[in-house]
Amino acid sequence: MGMKLNTTAIALVLLLASAAEVSEGASFDVTKHGAKADGSDISQALLAAWKEACASPTPSSVLVPAGTYGLGQICFEGPCKAPINLIVEGTLKAPVDTKNFKADAGWVAFQNIDHFTLSGKGVFDGQGPAVWGKKCARSSYCGALPINLKFNFLTNSMVRDVTTKDSKQFHVNVLGCKNLSFYHFTVSAPEESLNTDGIHIGRSSGINITNTNIKTGDDCISIGDGSEQITIDQVTCGPGHGISVGSLGKYANEAPVVGIKVTGSTLTNTQNGIRVKTWPASPAGIASNMHFEDIIMNNVGNPILIDQEYCPYSQCKQQIPSRVKISDVTFKNIRGTSSTELAVKLVCSSGVPCQNVQLTDINLKFNGGAPTSICKNVKPILGGVQQPRSCSA
Ligand SMILES: *[C@@H]1O[C@H](CO)[C@@H](O)[C@H](O)[C@H]1NC(C)=O
Ligand SMILES: *[C@@H]1O[C@H](CO)[C@@H](O)[C@H](O)[C@H]1NC(C)=O
Repeated sequence: MGMKLNTTAIALVLLLASAAEVSEGASFDVTKHGAKADGSDISQALLAAWKEACASPTPSSVLVPAGTYGLGQICFEGPCKAPINLIVEGTLKAPVDTKNFKADAGWVAFQNIDHFTLSGKGVFDGQGPAVWGKKCARSSYCGALPINLKFNFLTNSMVRDVTTKDSKQFHVNVLGCKNLSFYHFTVSAPEESLNTDGIHIGRSSGINITNTNIKTGDDCISIGDGSEQITIDQVTCGPGHGISVGSLGKYANEAPVVGIKVTGSTLTNTQNGIRVKTWPASPAGIASNMHFEDIIMNNVGNPILIDQEYCPYSQCKQQIPSRVKISDVTFKNIRGTSSTELAVKLVCSSGVPCQNVQLTDINLKFNGGAPTSICKNVKPILGGVQQPRSCSA
């Protein structure tokens, strides 16, 4: 008996030891590079650890242990010699005053890295409340504030478990990435935070967002031009403005949006549900092959919304139609409650009407009576339950 226990214990110790070895690889602890959990800026220590890890010919990791640290503007640059993992277990706080930040570089950027993983139970705290008070409309003020996390030109990479909190502007911007997955990721900011989109994707392909919880003051996820093969599954959104494709057509030379799939997700108390928005008077563009399936709406404004007359603050020539062509769109098994009487709004362009839009098993209730729909320049194919019954007039 005693003998048996001993063997088991030894086996367990050996197993744990080898597991630790495998997971650590070459490990660089930022506190061994001079970082202190006393609120002081650790960017120099973190960059020093990153530089060593990035030069390692075998897989490596950089660790920020539990604790609260200050962190200035930083860019983790590749390419690295082997797969690299940044493990953040602590809370990293951005400076409140960011007027000395380099413009458009964000607070924390990751750039030109292959096989990169960002993980850990840590938090990137953008300290946004100090700057949210000001109006964003029409001013460049909000756009100039730093984005919490920028992922630029990453390939075959993963972001998991970490949290982005109270960003001053968008929480996450994904640009030029291929095969990047967000898994069990958290975005956290209050409803009244301005311009704090959760995850914005542009010019990227093969982006997966799964098991992710987003609470913020603007779009939970926004999908910009040049996005292809974007998969969103098991995401909860709210508060926020919903999940958006667009806005598209504001600028010249926008690349097509093709292959969007949103499934198994829940939106709660959001301003909009699933929204595709394009500007009037736009250059020609394409948004196609977009599928929205098995989505629960809890008290959501405009749960199903295509808006090709999107023109906030009247910044456009409303009377000229959008030339972004929307086609091959399915909404299937969308159910729950609408907070607006208008539950389905399909306003397509008179210049390039929507093609092959399918609505199947739509079951939306409105607390104040029967929900309604409007349709313009679209003849959707209806199947299964239809509440409201769209385009029947
Ligand atoms: C995508 O990236 C993951 C690492 O996050 C990797 O395991 C996988 O092989 C990549 N897929 C392709 C098709 O390269
Ligand atoms: C991303 O999602 C697609 C579609 O579900 C899947 O085929 C692919 O394997 C996923 N990629 C990763 C890295 O999880």
